[in-house]
Amino acid sequence: MAEDVGCKDCHTQVEESEEMTDDILKQACINCHDDDPAYGKMVDEWRKDVESLDIQNLKKQLRQVQKSVLLAIRNGDYTYDAQDLINNADKNLKQLLKGNPIHNLEFSKDLASKVKTLTEKAHKQLQRNRTIKTLSDRSYKY
Ligand code: HEC
Ligand code: HEC
Repeated sequence: MAEDVGCKDCHTQVEESEEMTDDILKQACINCHDDDPAYGKMVDEWRKDVESLDIQNLKKQLRQVQKSVLLAIRNGDYTYDAQDLINNADKNLKQLLKGNPIHNLEFSKDLASKVKTLTEKAHKQLQRNRTIKTLSDRSYKY
């Protein structure tokens, strides 16, 4: 979306201090985009896109690997690479949680994919350096 489209351009009811309704929001898109109704439907597509980022799940997975790192430290395993990776993932996740992802979908998609990749890499790193290799993930209790 263009930088010069302000909050009020989409959230047209802020002036009347009314609740944002779906119809009014969509109408704002349509009005500004040459009365093309496709721009109303786009709001629903954006919502679906945000849902498919599955941010809560990314968060859960990262938290789990963070806990595994703590356990590995306690276990005396080598964890520096994994720590690096999860710190990086955490930074990206914080960015992602900062605003409503719908406002910057492309950026959010990019962040989400970074969190996912970094978390997976950290998980692999941990397994590679695990001294008790015979234990499955499930044997690690948090
Ligand atoms: C291009 C249009 C657009 C612009 C510009 C925009 N928003 Fe939004 N905003 C949306 C859409 C679409 C949603 C998602 C609405 C939904 O899913 O119900 C949203 C959601 C929100 C929400 C969450 C509302 C809720 O009930 O969940 C807030 C708060 C918000 N915007 C504030 C702002 C602010 C503050 C600005 C300016 C800095 C801004 N928006 C600029 C389109 C826009
Ligand atoms: C006040 C006017 C305004 C409003 C309101 C607005 N837009 Fe836009 N939108 C623009 C402008 C200006 C651009 C930049 C066009 C360009 O760069 O070619 C743009 C670009 C876009 C683009 C990318 C280029 C394209 O045309 O496909 C999409 C998608 C889009 N808007 C969807 C929406 C949606 C969905 C909403 C409502 C949530 C919305 N816009 C609300 C003015 C507006």
